[in-house]
Amino acid sequence: INLNIGIDKIGFYTPHTFIDMVKLAEARGVDPAKYTIGIGQEKMAVSPVTQDAVTLAANAALRILDEEDLEKIDLVVFGTESGIDSSKAAAVYVHDLLGIQSRARSIEIKQACYGATAGIQLAKGHIALHPESRVLVLGSDISRYGLNTPGEVTQGAGAVAMVISADPRILSLGDQSAYLTNDVMDFWRPTYSDTAYVDGKFSNEQYISFFLNTWKQFKSQTDLSIKDFEAMCFHLPYTKMGMKAMREIFVEGTSEDEERLTRHYKNSTLYNKTVGNIYTGSLYLSLISLLEQDETLKPGDRIGLFSYGSGAVGEFFTGILQPEYKEALAEAEHAKLFAEREEVSIEEYEEIFSEVLPVDGSNLQLTIENDPAMICVAGIEEHKRIYVNKN
Ligand code: CAA
Repeated sequence: INLNIGIDKIGFYTPHTFIDMVKLAEARGVDPAKYTIGIGQEKMAVSPVTQDAVTLAANAALRILDEEDLEKIDLVVFGTESGIDSSKAAAVYVHDLLGIQSRARSIEIKQACYGATAGIQLAKGHIALHPESRVLVLGSDISRYGLNTPGEVTQGAGAVAMVISADPRILSLGDQSAYLTNDVMDFWRPTYSDTAYVDGKFSNEQYISFFLNTWKQFKSQTDLSIKDFEAMCFHLPYTKMGMKAMREIFVEGTSEDEERLTRHYKNSTLYNKTVGNIYTGSLYLSLISLLEQDETLKPGDRIGLFSYGSGAVGEFFTGILQPEYKEALAEAEHAKLFAEREEVSIEEYEEIFSEVLPVDGSNLQLTIENDPAMICVAGIEEHKRIYVNKN
């Protein structure tokens, strides 16, 4: 069995519009420092009606796949909690939109924000059995709590796409992993609701408790401790959350460990601060932010990863940075994506938020000219979403 399996490519996509959190705070009559410091968010991606979980994921994958990937990918795993269909997997649409060869398995996985991590673990097993294969793992979501709710400040939209392979160029994933399931109602979304229900304080407590449990379990499974980690990346519903969890383990290390992990943590939150919560993709957006924005990391460094999906499943695992990791990143693409985004006013955001696809089965045709994304939703005809690849 080939144990050198991991992330060979990683890219993301976020919609072209965003709002400024200071302006949101002003509109809601809240001290802006609560949002920018207390929560730790600066901008929030706003998804137009012409994007959904499928198109966000397809747009993310489009940025990283080449012809060889399209021929070698034989498993597409789509993690999401913003599914568009109760039966058909979002992965099947993406498989078609990208032109992946047909001898492939395409499935959707659901467990709140944990879905993409489940996809990676499944991919590792698949590659161990079929070392020549490549697996496309997607994490794509639109986070919606509703206007004027406490969760509003922690919304966002976007997707991460990863190619998992043998001898990966970016991050080799360790074979040790610590995971935990416990049935708790901290955050959920019944099938009749397009916004999430959440017990905010309880969800923060569960997140930290799952982190401490899996961290302890991981240490007992390995001979690793806090000093062995150059950096740690967290699922980031908002950027303060990971720090709240990480500081709980600082007592186990020296002040040097605390300084190092805190310094890297800042870089791992830069992208998330301007995108918001993208649920399944958030941990991996944080990893992209760290790898692209941190100039002090080097090949051989060990990075810890904590995934949390409310409800709840948590997992702590690690990866080792590979020699050519910098060259394998899509940094310039991502810088361009951020630079081309447009700010919308709070009034415009509220209007965009209320524009949703009909849920009564009626047809609708959308204008996609205003959405610069390559792949868009063009409407609904006879209960089928119409996807367009402008290429
Ligand atoms: N200046 C600086 N800081 C301020 C401030 C000010 N003027 N006013 C308040 N703050 C601080 C508070 O002290 C607090 O900090 P600490 O948490 O460090 O104590 C922080 O801002 C938030 O303040 P509140 O706790 O009063 O905020 P809130 O009650 O409005 O709710 C929230 C915050 C619970 C995160 C809410 O936004 C929410 O429910 N969000 C959705 C749920 C969520 O993201 N949960 C995370 C864990 S679950 C998960 O990870 C899965 C997932 O993706 C959903």
